[in-house]
Amino acid sequence: MKFSVLTLFPDFFSSPLSQSIIGRAIEKGLLEVSLHNIRDYAQDKHGTVDDTPYGGGAGMVLRVEPVVSCLDAVKKGCHAESTLTILTTPQGVRLDQRLVEELAGYQALIILCGRYEGIDERTRAFVDMEVSIGDYILTGGEIAALVLIDSVGRLVPGVVGQKDSLKTESFTTGLLEYPQYTRPPEFRGMRVPEVLLSGHHQEIRRWRRRESIKRTLERRPDLLDSAELTEEDIRFIKELTGKG
Ligand code: ADE
Repeated sequence: MKFSVLTLFPDFFSSPLSQSIIGRAIEKGLLEVSLHNIRDYAQDKHGTVDDTPYGGGAGMVLRVEPVVSCLDAVKKGCHAESTLTILTTPQGVRLDQRLVEELAGYQALIILCGRYEGIDERTRAFVDMEVSIGDYILTGGEIAALVLIDSVGRLVPGVVGQKDSLKTESFTTGLLEYPQYTRPPEFRGMRVPEVLLSGHHQEIRRWRRRESIKRTLERRPDLLDSAELTEEDIRFIKELTGKG
């Protein structure tokens, strides 16, 4: 899968994209990330990319011409069968795992990093979707672009090693993940639940399912409305809540 990022700060991406799972996926060629400096598309020799807002007010506004020239060049060079152009902005649709999965269906994403002071409104006509990573304000869209690359990129087959770790994790099942433990069996008086040491795979599966349900009920009961639940799950929830 290919990501093209349009930014004023391409250096921002070098360390995060060279590390860990995403770094290895790029090395293996499973993911490709190209960085495009909007400043290279400035229309004057000083490399001016922003200007004062019409009507007055504080801050600078990212000009439309360099951004759209950069977008044109990137789109022209992108030969993927399906491409989506995204602007990162707190005004966009809020990112969740459902949207991440939808975005993973594209062959290429072009991500335009917004600036917190603002972009010229006319830029919006040149993107397909605006995405926010949450209800808070970042200084720019670069971190949001990294969140998109990370969350979408890890769904590309082969990027995350064990297929199972995608299947059972929080949100993919609609429930929060069950508690995990590793050695030692006891730490400062806290013991690993016996069932996990028992080797009874069916019991372990049942315990984990119940812990997932308990945790979801405690922390994110809203998720239970859309989770896929078996009759046994529903009976267990009734036991826990004392309803039914
Ligand atoms: N730019 C600034 N804040 C943002 C947010 N919350 N999501 C996406 N882009 C942003």
